[in-house]
Amino acid sequence: MIDRSASAELFETAKKYFPGGVNSPVRAFRSVGGTPLFIEKGDGALIWDADGNQFIDYCCSWGPLILGHNHPSVRENIHKAVDQGTSFGTPTRWENVLASTILENHSYLERIRFVSSGTEAAMSAIRLARGVTGRSKIIKFDGCYHGHVDALLVKAGSGLATLGTSSSAGVPEAYAKETIVLPLNDRQAVEEAVKQYKDEIACVAIEPIPANNGLLIQDPEYLRFLREICTREGIILLFDEVISGFRVGFEGAAGLYGIQPDVLAFGKIIGGGMPVGAYGSSAEIMNHISPEGPVYQAGTLSGNPVAMAAGAAQLQQCLKPGFYEELERKTRNLIDPLMEYSQQNGYSFRMFNRGSVFWLAFSDKVAIRSSAEIDPDSMKYFATLHSALLDRGIYLGPSGYEVGFVSAAHTDEQIAQTVEAFKEALDIAFSEQNG
Ligand SMILES: Cc1ncc(COP(=O)(O)O)c(C=O)c1O
Repeated sequence: MIDRSASAELFETAKKYFPGGVNSPVRAFRSVGGTPLFIEKGDGALIWDADGNQFIDYCCSWGPLILGHNHPSVRENIHKAVDQGTSFGTPTRWENVLASTILENHSYLERIRFVSSGTEAAMSAIRLARGVTGRSKIIKFDGCYHGHVDALLVKAGSGLATLGTSSSAGVPEAYAKETIVLPLNDRQAVEEAVKQYKDEIACVAIEPIPANNGLLIQDPEYLRFLREICTREGIILLFDEVISGFRVGFEGAAGLYGIQPDVLAFGKIIGGGMPVGAYGSSAEIMNHISPEGPVYQAGTLSGNPVAMAAGAAQLQQCLKPGFYEELERKTRNLIDPLMEYSQQNGYSFRMFNRGSVFWLAFSDKVAIRSSAEIDPDSMKYFATLHSALLDRGIYLGPSGYEVGFVSAAHTDEQIAQTVEAFKEALDIAFSEQNG
């Protein structure tokens, strides 16, 4: 076992300050055991913890760092912006720079509004949908996450097309009742819900590539079906592209599948590692937002110049020819040999991916499209694998339900090294758990 004593000590101190010692729950390592690593620095695909251990990082700050850590052009833009001050509460040029980088290259958007997180983006997008339609109910899907907004911390009620119940203490049932939670990949459930709540549903919100409860890749035909039913019923189709946006291609899942949602929500990559979220749509729909229209939404630090500068630098790199093809190639170089190795050894293990987002499933299923298809018991394999990988200098986010990310900074050598470490870690996971 690597020495993690400095991290463990820092965690003891942090527990005196923060609930569970952390400022976001999954960081606490509860599902894999042990204490979290305190990371001191990152460069390219590498991170170093407080004990000086070096890791090849596949968490990448949970997705924002598509260029890896400390990319020179992001760092330079941040310095340029910071040299002029950090926040003014006025418009700045940097907002135009990031907006034009996006809007000139994303054909599914005409107007955008910057906020400070993915949660805020999804929350504001839903308010917009309600404001535009004058309706209040929303449909979300079991297995999709849209941030910690009250109305979205909701789980399915007792039957199909029943109203949701809150999945967190502190969320009033009255809010949860405005949310209908449906299983993914089930057309009939959607048909029934829109029939039962005719003219009451403002919005269907979906992660078009659900990546918060495993990677539940949807059939594009199902997404097209959602597009059609929303058009038919006057419902706003919201694509939450907080993970998939600028990740599976510059135009995200909308571009990958060629589907025009009514509203899109973004976070993560858009801010280059700084706190940025955004939502966008057609000019007509966005004109409902204040000060142009009656849907109120504001933010003291919205469009923060330092964060805008970071996002602009990152997205400009993503626009370089071949950027996404190269990421995909690297991701295949990680996945293909591991799938082959698992097959040779008879391990129930698969890796799913869309572009450079990947997920480890301890399963033989060739497709997993809904959260009900994930066996919670399979997570014990992940816990063993995670710790064996840490011992071999590979860092994955500490939960088997979370996806991993390959960045442009990962080198072929680092990926080859990862494959070898993974093979050993798989041997350990399958011999410990099966033996
Ligand atoms: C699809 C999706 N939507 C919304 C959010 C919330 O974003 P944030 O954590 O920036 O508030 C996340 C976060 O992981 C997400 O994956």
